[in-house]
Amino acid sequence: MNHAHTHAPHQTHTHHTPGTDTEVQAEILDLDAEVLAEHTASITAWLPLKTAPHHLVDLGCGTGTGTFALLDRFPDAHVTAVDASIEHLQRLRTKACALGVQDRVRTVQADLDETAWPDLGTPDLVWASASMHHMARPDRALRNVHEALAPGALFAVVELAGHPRFLPENAPRDRPGLEERVHSAADRLQKEHMPGRGADWGPMLTDVGFTVEGERTIAVDIEDDRNEAIGCYALGVLQRIRGVIADRISSEDLTALDRLLDTNGPGSVLRRDDLTVRTERTVWAARRT
Ligand SMILES: C[S@@+](CC[C@H](N)C(=O)[O-])C[C@H]1O[C@@H](n2cnc3c(N)ncnc32)[C@H](O)[C@@H]1O
Repeated sequence: MNHAHTHAPHQTHTHHTPGTDTEVQAEILDLDAEVLAEHTASITAWLPLKTAPHHLVDLGCGTGTGTFALLDRFPDAHVTAVDASIEHLQRLRTKACALGVQDRVRTVQADLDETAWPDLGTPDLVWASASMHHMARPDRALRNVHEALAPGALFAVVELAGHPRFLPENAPRDRPGLEERVHSAADRLQKEHMPGRGADWGPMLTDVGFTVEGERTIAVDIEDDRNEAIGCYALGVLQRIRGVIADRISSEDLTALDRLLDTNGPGSVLRRDDLTVRTERTVWAARRT
């Protein structure tokens, strides 16, 4: 089989002042795709598919992590990539052109919180990674997916345990445990706004009529001090979290966090050689029976 790899080309990492929230998110999503490429591939390989799917939908596709992983896994497939963000879709299209797979990708801008969804055809696999917890009415979104699928088709919901951790527990030296405290503040805030985050999607899928055929949690633990992307990924994630929790942590912690985020300073996270990526991804494979 002629199998052209559709991984995004290896990127050069540049550090600049954070742009708009969408730009920052896009950069984090791209780094996440790069750092966790093997884990994403192991999820697509695990899916309990009976035959190779041809018509795929990537819901809340972002900049295309799932889209490109699926195109890579299923060389005869087409993906309809759906997102609310026109900027993310534009970035995805640019990547598709660079990879020469633009004929296999259709982008659709849609707010999946709307009651009526755009026509997504009759997909044989729908993929939703880190997007379902954004839905204001997840039950309605799951029901819409159920209706769109042909009998026998599969819905893969991938969710994250939370933001990845990067620093050793005893870092930074003057404020050990800083990262956990920052995450606790972010988790508390997120629970108020996104109750679906970290939820068990199995029962919710069953409630709308799916048969959950498998659930798998992948522990991610990447130690690679030569991987420049990990530093950039850590920087992006911590910058984004700082934007929402600055007034929810102590001033000493905020000062220590800012030292990590100061890319010109000696305490910059980019200068550390002890970063790892620790997180978890869970996937539920749900069939429309
Ligand atoms: C955390 S990102 C995940 C992106 C991608 N699936 C991935 O795995 O990298 C969540 C995505 O969901 C999209 N999103 C959030 N709410 C949405 C909505 N109501 N309708 C459509 N897309 C939405 C965001 O624009 C963003 O691209």
